[in-house]
Amino acid sequence: MNKELFTHQGASQYTERKEFEIEGVTSMRVNQFKNKHFRYRHVIFADVFCGSGKNTINAEYIVDGSPLRLLSGFFRAKMNKILPYSFSFWFSDIRHSACAALERRIEERFEIPAPAFPMEASSAINSLGDMLSAKPEAFLFLILDPNGPKDFPKYETQDLLSSFPGRIDVIPYISATTINRCLNARNKAGRDFKGWLGEIENFDEGFVAALSGGNRFGWIRKPIPGDRQRWTMIPTFGCFEPRNSWEKQGYVKLNSNEGKEVVKFYCGETNNEQ
Ligand SMILES: C[S@@+](CC[C@H](N)C(=O)[O-])C[C@H]1O[C@@H](n2cnc3c(N)ncnc32)[C@H](O)[C@@H]1O
Repeated sequence: MNKELFTHQGASQYTERKEFEIEGVTSMRVNQFKNKHFRYRHVIFADVFCGSGKNTINAEYIVDGSPLRLLSGFFRAKMNKILPYSFSFWFSDIRHSACAALERRIEERFEIPAPAFPMEASSAINSLGDMLSAKPEAFLFLILDPNGPKDFPKYETQDLLSSFPGRIDVIPYISATTINRCLNARNKAGRDFKGWLGEIENFDEGFVAALSGGNRFGWIRKPIPGDRQRWTMIPTFGCFEPRNSWEKQGYVKLNSNEGKEVVKFYCGETNNEQ
């Protein structure tokens, strides 16, 4: 049976904020990479859960999805100038129909051909890893926006980060409630998946540690009061610490004590929304 039947785009009242943040982070990084000390000569901008490019919020209004936001942020920062690095885009999603729709939207809006590949996110991550291996001059800017933990390429991303910690930005958007609910179900089924987000029993291991390990820089968005899905964004960067107004935007450093408390909250260990 076609797996596409069981996947969906999903949207909530927080989706618009997510899309806004993805565009902002992309634009900020495209600008930072213009710095003469940025030593990578090629940047791959990738979104491996790209969807169709369109989100309908509460059946009411439509907002651009992450791939369109990524492209808008990119072109806003590029400002018709020639960048000191070459670039390419990678879009993929398990749904063939979403990929086809996205290709049409990109063509209409940006007048560039940008293929969207129908494929599993885990395979996409592996292919991107192959590209980084083959091209030592390449840097990867990666957006991860899964529906839930089932298809989240956690181990592939961790492997990628441990192979190329200084050459990757990762922007994951996660509903911790969904993840924890699934984890509990799996734990009850006798499998050991506890502490998905950070293996918080030991902050030095696991996904959060991979995001912020080595010389990487990372932030995590603090809880939004009343958000039962516990959505969060965890932007982490391989080089060039972004001097953004993170605090004003509700973020804390991932490796700070406050950041660790926030991770605990998202892992369901505390109820303190701060
Ligand atoms: C939350 S939506 C992302 C939407 C998009 N990023 C946006 O902002 O508009 C998650 C997407 O993941 C796709 N998906 C689900 N399982 C997948 C998998 N194993 N590999 C790749 N994509 C998957 C779904 O088809 C869906 O489009």
